[in-house]
Amino acid sequence: MIDIKNITKSFGSLQVLKGIDLHIDKGEVVSIVGPSGAGKTTLLQIIGTLDKPDTGSVHVDSVDVTTLSQKALADFRNRHLGFVFQFHQLLPEFTAIENIMIPAYIAGTSNKAAKERAKELLQFMGLTNRANHKPNELSGGEKQRVAVARALVNSPAVILADEPSGSLDTKNKEELHQLFFDLRDKFGQTFVIVTHDEQLATITDRTIHMRDGLLDIPVVSDLSADI
Ligand SMILES: Nc1ncnc2c1ncn2[C@@H]1O[C@H](COP(=O)(O)OP(=O)(O)OP(=O)(O)O)[C@@H](O)[C@H]1O
Ligand SMILES: [Mg+2]
Repeated sequence: MIDIKNITKSFGSLQVLKGIDLHIDKGEVVSIVGPSGAGKTTLLQIIGTLDKPDTGSVHVDSVDVTTLSQKALADFRNRHLGFVFQFHQLLPEFTAIENIMIPAYIAGTSNKAAKERAKELLQFMGLTNRANHKPNELSGGEKQRVAVARALVNSPAVILADEPSGSLDTKNKEELHQLFFDLRDKFGQTFVIVTHDEQLATITDRTIHMRDGLLDIPVVSDLSADI
Protein backbone atom coordinates (compact mmCIF):
# COMPACT_ATOMS: atom_id res chain seq x y z
CA MET A 1 0.00 0.00 0.00
CA ILE A 2 2.70 2.50 1.06
CA ASP A 3 6.30 1.83 0.13
CA ILE A 4 9.01 4.29 1.05
CA LYS A 5 12.61 3.80 0.00
CA ASN A 6 15.57 5.79 1.23
CA ILE A 7 13.81 9.12 1.70
CA THR A 8 15.98 12.08 2.58
CA LYS A 9 14.88 15.68 3.10
CA SER A 10 16.77 18.81 4.11
CA PHE A 11 15.60 22.31 4.85
CA GLY A 12 18.68 24.44 4.08
CA SER A 13 21.59 22.91 5.96
CA LEU A 14 19.30 20.98 8.33
CA GLN A 15 18.84 17.35 7.28
CA VAL A 16 15.44 16.43 8.70
CA LEU A 17 15.02 12.93 7.16
CA LYS A 18 18.21 10.90 6.88
CA GLY A 19 17.21 7.82 4.89
CA ILE A 20 13.80 6.39 5.73
CA ASP A 21 12.62 2.97 4.53
CA LEU A 22 9.10 1.99 5.45
CA HIS A 23 6.43 -0.37 4.20
CA ILE A 24 2.82 -0.15 5.36
CA ASP A 25 0.25 -2.76 4.39
CA LYS A 26 -3.32 -2.14 3.29
CA GLY A 27 -5.66 -1.93 6.26
CA GLU A 28 -2.86 -1.38 8.78
CA VAL A 29 -3.30 1.25 11.49
CA VAL A 30 0.20 2.56 12.15
CA SER A 31 1.28 5.19 14.64
CA ILE A 32 4.42 7.28 14.32
CA VAL A 33 5.84 8.56 17.60
CA GLY A 34 8.99 10.40 18.58
CA PRO A 35 10.31 13.59 20.12
CA SER A 36 9.45 17.03 18.80
CA GLY A 37 11.57 17.85 15.78
CA ALA A 38 12.23 14.19 14.92
CA GLY A 39 10.74 14.69 11.44
CA LYS A 40 7.32 13.05 11.91
CA THR A 41 5.26 15.76 10.24
CA THR A 42 7.80 16.09 7.43
CA LEU A 43 7.56 12.34 6.76
CA LEU A 44 3.75 12.42 6.84
CA GLN A 45 3.68 15.40 4.44
CA ILE A 46 5.94 13.51 2.04
CA ILE A 47 3.76 10.38 2.22
CA GLY A 48 0.79 12.69 1.63
CA THR A 49 2.44 14.29 -1.44
CA LEU A 50 2.22 17.72 0.19
CA ASP A 51 6.00 17.91 0.13
CA LYS A 52 8.68 16.27 -2.04
CA PRO A 53 11.69 14.33 -0.76
CA ASP A 54 15.20 15.26 -1.94
CA THR A 55 15.99 11.63 -2.73
CA GLY A 56 14.17 8.31 -2.60
CA SER A 57 10.83 7.03 -3.79
CA VAL A 58 7.31 6.99 -2.37
CA HIS A 59 4.79 4.52 -3.75
CA VAL A 60 1.17 4.86 -2.66
CA ASP A 61 -1.25 2.31 -4.06
CA SER A 62 1.50 1.22 -6.52
CA VAL A 63 1.90 4.75 -7.94
CA ASP A 64 5.30 6.44 -7.65
CA VAL A 65 4.02 9.79 -6.43
CA THR A 66 7.44 11.44 -6.62
CA THR A 67 7.23 11.38 -10.44
CA LEU A 68 3.73 12.87 -10.88
CA SER A 69 3.21 16.37 -12.29
CA GLN A 70 1.62 19.03 -10.05
CA LYS A 71 -1.77 18.56 -11.70
CA ALA A 72 -1.68 14.76 -11.56
CA LEU A 73 -0.54 15.03 -7.96
CA ALA A 74 -3.46 17.24 -6.92
CA ASP A 75 -5.85 14.78 -8.50
CA PHE A 76 -4.12 11.78 -6.91
CA ARG A 77 -4.22 13.43 -3.48
CA ASN A 78 -7.89 14.26 -3.80
CA ARG A 79 -8.88 10.72 -4.75
CA HIS A 80 -6.47 8.50 -2.86
CA LEU A 81 -5.52 10.32 0.33
CA GLY A 82 -7.48 11.78 3.23
CA PHE A 83 -5.99 14.19 5.76
CA VAL A 84 -6.87 14.87 9.38
CA PHE A 85 -4.94 17.60 11.18
CA GLN A 86 -4.59 18.56 14.86
CA PHE A 87 -6.98 21.43 14.35
CA HIS A 88 -9.91 20.45 12.19
CA GLN A 89 -9.40 23.13 9.50
CA LEU A 90 -13.07 23.13 8.53
CA LEU A 91 -14.26 26.08 6.49
CA PRO A 92 -16.17 28.32 8.94
CA GLU A 93 -18.76 29.67 6.49
CA PHE A 94 -19.95 26.20 5.43
CA THR A 95 -22.13 23.72 7.34
CA ALA A 96 -20.88 20.33 8.49
CA ILE A 97 -22.42 18.53 5.52
CA GLU A 98 -21.09 21.11 3.06
CA ASN A 99 -17.58 20.80 4.51
CA ILE A 100 -17.75 17.03 4.03
CA MET A 101 -18.99 17.40 0.44
CA ILE A 102 -16.28 19.81 -0.76
CA PRO A 103 -13.58 17.23 -1.65
CA ALA A 104 -16.25 15.21 -3.49
CA TYR A 105 -17.14 18.28 -5.60
CA ILE A 106 -13.47 18.79 -6.38
CA ALA A 107 -13.32 15.16 -7.56
CA GLY A 108 -16.25 15.85 -9.91
CA THR A 109 -18.91 13.91 -7.99
CA SER A 110 -22.49 15.04 -8.63
CA ASN A 111 -24.30 17.07 -5.98
CA LYS A 112 -26.73 14.23 -5.34
CA ALA A 113 -24.08 11.54 -4.95
CA ALA A 114 -21.89 13.79 -2.78
CA LYS A 115 -24.82 14.57 -0.49
CA GLU A 116 -25.75 10.91 -0.15
CA ARG A 117 -22.18 9.96 0.70
CA ALA A 118 -21.89 12.84 3.21
CA LYS A 119 -25.16 11.78 4.88
CA GLU A 120 -23.96 8.20 5.13
CA LEU A 121 -20.73 9.37 6.79
CA LEU A 122 -22.57 11.73 9.15
CA GLN A 123 -24.72 8.83 10.23
CA PHE A 124 -21.68 6.62 10.76
CA MET A 125 -20.15 9.38 12.92
CA GLY A 126 -23.37 9.82 14.91
CA LEU A 127 -23.69 13.37 13.63
CA THR A 128 -26.87 13.26 11.56
CA ASN A 129 -28.56 15.90 13.70
CA ARG A 130 -25.56 18.26 13.38
CA ALA A 131 -25.45 18.22 9.57
CA ASN A 132 -26.64 21.76 9.06
CA HIS A 133 -24.58 23.38 11.79
CA LYS A 134 -21.52 25.49 11.05
CA PRO A 135 -18.20 24.63 12.74
CA ASN A 136 -18.57 27.32 15.44
CA GLU A 137 -21.83 25.62 16.52
CA LEU A 138 -20.11 22.23 16.99
CA SER A 139 -18.07 20.89 19.91
CA GLY A 140 -14.38 20.11 19.47
CA GLY A 141 -15.06 16.37 19.21
CA GLU A 142 -17.86 16.91 16.70
CA LYS A 143 -15.68 19.18 14.56
CA GLN A 144 -12.94 16.58 14.51
CA ARG A 145 -15.40 13.86 13.49
CA VAL A 146 -16.66 16.11 10.67
CA ALA A 147 -13.03 16.53 9.62
CA VAL A 148 -12.64 12.73 9.57
CA ALA A 149 -15.82 12.43 7.48
CA ARG A 150 -14.42 15.02 5.07
CA ALA A 151 -11.20 13.00 4.80
CA LEU A 152 -13.27 9.91 3.95
CA VAL A 153 -15.72 11.34 1.44
CA ASN A 154 -13.83 10.19 -1.66
CA SER A 155 -13.14 6.77 -0.09
CA PRO A 156 -9.37 7.25 -0.07
CA ALA A 157 -7.15 4.22 0.41
CA VAL A 158 -5.06 6.00 3.01
CA ILE A 159 -5.87 8.40 5.85
CA LEU A 160 -2.98 10.48 7.14
CA ALA A 161 -3.48 12.11 10.51
CA ASP A 162 -1.13 14.51 12.30
CA GLU A 163 -1.92 14.74 16.02
CA PRO A 164 -5.63 14.20 15.29
CA SER A 165 -6.63 14.01 18.95
CA GLY A 166 -4.14 16.60 20.21
CA SER A 167 -6.82 19.20 20.84
CA LEU A 168 -9.43 16.86 22.37
CA ASP A 169 -10.34 15.92 25.95
CA THR A 170 -10.07 12.31 27.12
CA LYS A 171 -13.59 11.22 26.20
CA ASN A 172 -13.55 12.73 22.71
CA LYS A 173 -10.05 11.45 22.19
CA GLU A 174 -11.04 7.87 23.02
CA GLU A 175 -14.10 8.10 20.76
CA LEU A 176 -12.00 9.40 17.87
CA HIS A 177 -9.44 6.62 18.30
CA GLN A 178 -12.20 3.99 18.37
CA LEU A 179 -13.62 5.57 15.23
CA PHE A 180 -10.35 4.97 13.36
CA PHE A 181 -10.53 1.25 14.12
CA ASP A 182 -14.24 1.08 13.25
CA LEU A 183 -13.48 2.73 9.91
CA ARG A 184 -10.64 0.36 9.18
CA ASP A 185 -12.92 -2.60 9.95
CA LYS A 186 -15.79 -1.25 7.85
CA PHE A 187 -13.99 0.36 4.89
CA GLY A 188 -10.54 -1.28 5.00
CA GLN A 189 -8.73 2.06 5.13
CA THR A 190 -5.03 2.30 5.94
CA PHE A 191 -4.20 4.80 8.71
CA VAL A 192 -0.90 6.52 9.38
CA ILE A 193 -1.21 8.55 12.55
CA VAL A 194 1.44 10.85 14.02
CA THR A 195 0.75 11.12 17.72
CA HIS A 196 2.17 12.02 21.11
CA ASP A 197 -0.65 10.03 22.68
CA GLU A 198 0.86 6.94 24.28
CA GLN A 199 -2.50 5.27 24.75
CA LEU A 200 -3.27 5.58 21.02
CA ALA A 201 0.21 4.33 20.14
CA THR A 202 -0.27 1.19 22.25
CA ILE A 203 -3.56 0.22 20.55
CA THR A 204 -2.41 0.66 16.92
CA ASP A 205 -1.28 -2.40 14.93
CA ARG A 206 2.28 -1.09 14.83
CA THR A 207 4.16 1.80 16.38
CA ILE A 208 7.02 3.35 14.44
CA HIS A 209 9.54 5.24 16.55
CA MET A 210 11.30 8.17 14.94
CA ARG A 211 14.33 9.95 16.28
CA ASP A 212 16.50 12.58 14.70
CA GLY A 213 15.39 11.87 11.12
CA LEU A 214 15.66 8.09 11.33
CA LEU A 215 13.40 5.20 12.27
CA ASP A 216 14.49 3.26 15.32
CA ILE A 217 15.52 -0.19 14.18
CA PRO A 218 13.60 -2.97 15.96
CA VAL A 219 15.65 -4.78 18.59
CA VAL A 220 16.83 -8.29 17.71
CA SER A 221 14.35 -10.01 20.02
CA ASP A 222 11.47 -8.47 17.99
CA LEU A 223 12.92 -9.82 14.75
CA SER A 224 13.49 -13.31 16.11
CA ALA A 225 9.73 -13.61 16.74
CA ASP A 226 9.19 -13.64 12.96
CA ILE A 227 11.74 -16.33 12.18
N1 LIG B 1 9.44 24.23 6.00
C1 LIG B 1 10.46 24.11 6.85
N2 LIG B 1 11.54 24.91 6.75
C2 LIG B 1 12.60 24.79 7.60
N3 LIG B 1 12.65 23.87 8.60
C3 LIG B 1 11.62 23.06 8.76
C4 LIG B 1 10.46 23.13 7.91
N4 LIG B 1 9.58 22.17 8.30
C5 LIG B 1 10.14 21.56 9.35
N5 LIG B 1 11.36 22.07 9.64
C6 LIG B 1 12.28 21.61 10.68
O1 LIG B 1 12.45 20.22 10.52
C7 LIG B 1 12.53 19.55 11.76
C8 LIG B 1 11.47 18.46 11.82
O2 LIG B 1 10.19 19.05 11.80
P1 LIG B 1 8.85 18.22 11.88
O3 LIG B 1 7.73 19.19 11.81
O4 LIG B 1 8.88 17.14 10.86
O5 LIG B 1 8.96 17.59 13.34
P2 LIG B 1 7.93 16.73 14.18
O6 LIG B 1 8.60 15.44 14.50
O7 LIG B 1 6.63 16.69 13.49
O8 LIG B 1 7.82 17.59 15.53
P3 LIG B 1 6.53 17.90 16.46
O9 LIG B 1 6.34 16.68 17.32
O10 LIG B 1 7.01 19.09 17.28
O11 LIG B 1 5.37 18.23 15.60
C9 LIG B 1 12.36 20.64 12.82
O12 LIG B 1 13.65 20.98 13.30
C10 LIG B 1 11.73 21.77 12.07
O13 LIG B 1 12.07 23.00 12.63
MG1 LIG C 1 4.74 17.53 13.87
